[in-house]
Amino acid sequence: MNGSKHPKLNAWVKEVADLCTPGSIVWCDGSKAEYDRMMALLQERGMAIPLTKRPNSFLFRTDPSDVARVEDRTYISTTTQGEAGPTNNWVHPDELKKTMRGLYRGCMRGRTMYVIPFSMGPVGSPIAKIGVEITDSAYVVANMHIMTRVSAKVLDVLGENGEFVPCLHSIGAPLEKGQKDAPWPCAPIEKKYISHFPEENLIWSYGSGYGGNALLGKKCLALRIASNIARREGWMAEHMLILRLTSPEGRKYHIAAAFPSACGKTNLAMMQPSLPGWKCECIGDDIAWMKIRTDDRLHAINPEAGFFGVAPGTSYGTNPMAMDTLKENVIFTNCALTDDGDVWWEGMTEETPKHVIDWKGRDWPPTSREDAAHANARFTAPARQCPVISPDWENPEGVPIDIFIFGGRRSSVVPLVTEAYNWDHGVFMGATAASETTSANIGAVGNLRRDPFAMRPFCGYHMGDYFTHWFTMGDTLGHKAPRIFYVNWFRKSSGGRFLWPGFSDNSRVLKWMCQRVDGKVGAKETPIGLMPKDGDLDLSGLNIPVESMKELMSVDLAAWKAEIPDIEKHFALFGDRLPERLRQQLEEMKKRLG
Ligand code: GTP
Ligand code: SPV
Ligand code: MN
Repeated sequence: MNGSKHPKLNAWVKEVADLCTPGSIVWCDGSKAEYDRMMALLQERGMAIPLTKRPNSFLFRTDPSDVARVEDRTYISTTTQGEAGPTNNWVHPDELKKTMRGLYRGCMRGRTMYVIPFSMGPVGSPIAKIGVEITDSAYVVANMHIMTRVSAKVLDVLGENGEFVPCLHSIGAPLEKGQKDAPWPCAPIEKKYISHFPEENLIWSYGSGYGGNALLGKKCLALRIASNIARREGWMAEHMLILRLTSPEGRKYHIAAAFPSACGKTNLAMMQPSLPGWKCECIGDDIAWMKIRTDDRLHAINPEAGFFGVAPGTSYGTNPMAMDTLKENVIFTNCALTDDGDVWWEGMTEETPKHVIDWKGRDWPPTSREDAAHANARFTAPARQCPVISPDWENPEGVPIDIFIFGGRRSSVVPLVTEAYNWDHGVFMGATAASETTSANIGAVGNLRRDPFAMRPFCGYHMGDYFTHWFTMGDTLGHKAPRIFYVNWFRKSSGGRFLWPGFSDNSRVLKWMCQRVDGKVGAKETPIGLMPKDGDLDLSGLNIPVESMKELMSVDLAAWKAEIPDIEKHFALFGDRLPERLRQQLEEMKKRLG
């Protein structure tokens, strides 16, 4: 394949080639042969390490500086700063483009430029969006094959004048004649830019080859650009997993949950209930696009085709369905390498191997004080390989959502589960969600910050307007709106241990939510929301100390009152774009707290 029937696309490709001056241009078709070519090339360069234990699977080690998203270098570039709002970095498009054009000039010298036509959502379905990523990274091509639908059919759907989102990506490391390539070429942090121009549905990324910085269909297109389109068109693009839970009676519930990065979406999405008779199927683990359909309900689809999941902590004990997804055809990044040619990471096995090569390529004895795998080491795996992937996961009609869950990582204060009194209260819960930061972003880990709707790094416009959009959607949905809950799997004892067993036992919490939806169980009113009455949470077969349960369910009024100044500070950020209904919710909570 060489070029398309789409003059605008061809012109853009030529313009980029003239600017970046690659050694050659390759149009991608998404075929297995192409994937194999990428891997052969990457093996030749020493970047891809084939794993003897897992067919068609490879390990990559990045540069130690290029291990996660870079929120400090991520921009929403709109004509006015007001449109980007207080939670986004902003530079005027003229200035940002000038800077970035300077960086792009000649940046692909000595490298191949790949043109990747991809679809977010099933190819040709009315809900899908088409993107074309130009990249100088073969690693990105291989990952895009798994995470999105890359195919020549995408160009057929585009035809001569179909709409697409241009996604320009360069690792920012030109290769001069005779120069030896770096093990993982990329640009230094101050030259990295992950830029979005939502007014023209355009993405420019420079300097990083990792994850959400480089696989532009994911956070850049499916969240930051899509959230803009969704607001304009009256739908939602959210950082949410989607799952189907079936009760022993055969009733199906669809749940969408928003937790911040590395706070449990993948794990909940493919959780195997510890409660007998309950069944969970996975529809998506990171992103949900949701539209109101003719039944007046909100239906969700997963626009992705794969999982880019956190490796550390994943084991047969915690997430067996993920482990079974990872048997073959997987790209591992920044995991450790065992002596018998397998990957390993902290928490994968009960016993630590006697020796591995760590993510930096060094001998690692278990006595080492550093982790063998990077905390943000990831697997890229096809969703269809998940044993509990739902038969409806590619259904373009989506699944009707019954329940929204918000949550985060809070070692104290926030109880295991609360239910919102109503939609407005639920939006308040989402808007004030706070979580301890994780290594999914480059920066400090463990700092508590407000991460509204788990969208702080991904909302492509003014967050105050985003809150308003949530109210508008709720008003349109009326009594058909999903019920809203808030969870915290991460509360710790004074000794620093997790109080709740989590994972498969999270099904106990989901069961209570389903019973609430069906009106089968009551709830206790507390100042922060509705909570299970004593004995209502199904703890059968679970060996958990009474004191732990008591602490997990406790609402410390003083600690909640102490949250208020921070919520007020958070709300003040949004100025006159903060919806009045959120201010009212805060007043009501204050009253309830006394
Ligand atoms: P992103 O891909 O970054 O958006 O993250 P995610 O929300 O999908 O997070 P993921 O499910 O990968 O979980 C991140 C980490 O939290 C892993 O190390 C998990 O083992 C751990 N984790 C997930 N669920 C639970 C839980 O219920 N309890 C505890 N204690 N840890 C959990
Ligand atoms: C996240 O950080 O929320 C992720 C990983 O899902 S990345 O694709 O790198 O953004
Ligand atoms: Mn994510």
